[in-house]
Amino acid sequence: MMEARTFTILSSTGESFPCRADESVLSAMRRAAAGPIRYGCFGGGCGACKMQIVSGSFSVFKPMSRAHVSPQDEQNSIVLLCCILPLSDLTLAEV
Ligand code: FES
Repeated sequence: MMEARTFTILSSTGESFPCRADESVLSAMRRAAAGPIRYGCFGGGCGACKMQIVSGSFSVFKPMSRAHVSPQDEQNSIVLLCCILPLSDLTLAEV
């Protein structure tokens, strides 16, 4: 089996951490203990992990609660980190 590719995520706190192409950015962030670590449900419902992706590309693999991410937010790359997979290196920012 091929190893999943690994990308580098730069967090809003200036820390960087590795994230495999097949894991959510939130899971990788939690494993690396890179801040800011905010999470609740891990399922796209609570909104705790909301951040903006300011560079790089990603895919949404789980539905994000519309109560926390509006269509306009989504257009501005505001996402729930538990719902996205990296497709490249990413840079995160607070919203
Ligand atoms: S941890 Fe609840 S929405 Fe991401």
